[in-house]
Amino acid sequence: MNVERHINEDFIVEYIRSLYPPKNDLFQEMEELARAEDIPIIEPETAKLLQLLLKLHRPKRILEIGTAIGYSAIVMMDALKGETNIYTIERDPRMIRYAKDFFAHSGYTGFHLLEGDAKDIMQELSMEYDFIFMDAAKAQYQNFFALGSYLLSKGGLIVSDNVLFRGMVASGELVERRKITIVKRLRKYLFDITQREGYSTSVIPIGDGVAVTLKEKE
Ligand SMILES: C[S@@+](CC[C@H](N)C(=O)[O-])C[C@H]1O[C@@H](n2cnc3c(N)ncnc32)[C@H](O)[C@@H]1O
Repeated sequence: MNVERHINEDFIVEYIRSLYPPKNDLFQEMEELARAEDIPIIEPETAKLLQLLLKLHRPKRILEIGTAIGYSAIVMMDALKGETNIYTIERDPRMIRYAKDFFAHSGYTGFHLLEGDAKDIMQELSMEYDFIFMDAAKAQYQNFFALGSYLLSKGGLIVSDNVLFRGMVASGELVERRKITIVKRLRKYLFDITQREGYSTSVIPIGDGVAVTLKEKE
């Protein structure tokens, strides 16, 4: 949602979206809020991919970096019918207030909102997670991955969103000047996670680009 330019042709995106059944009232309310206040939340295709991965993987403990209003956390919880625990990190007090409210109305327990900067909080965490969803400051993905890889169980997945960043990561012609640093860091991030020993990564061109990384060895 709220991505200014799709990485895929609009007619393909619209066609795929037309296939999905209508969302429930809570998701519609959250999407309207995100649109009205220009808050980025995961795109419908990314939500479907996340849900499918979660149903296959059935993680007991999920770590999310970047809660915003709690939309993706509720999407993930919904996929597992409440049978998981989601630890989700957010540093913006306004987002924290929205997320708390939506979690309370979701009908699910099992959300654990960790308030503060992800880099600080991740250094304090000691539990293992089976699934990490990374959807916060893109320029920090390498730091988040380095910290997350210690917290991830063997056989666990790290899913990183927005890795193709409106196509800019794949084509120099699309890069906006003020985004150069983020784009360079995302390119380095993708290079590193695709080459990394003991991990297997697929970069999927849906939504704004999603990387799915499996931890194969300790
Ligand atoms: C793209 S939004 C998350 C959207 C959410 N995952 C969803 O799809 O519903 C990114 C959020 O990450 C938060 N964020 C960015 N950098 C962060 C950091 N270093 N620590 C904690 N939160 C951070 C921002 O405040 C923002 O609310």
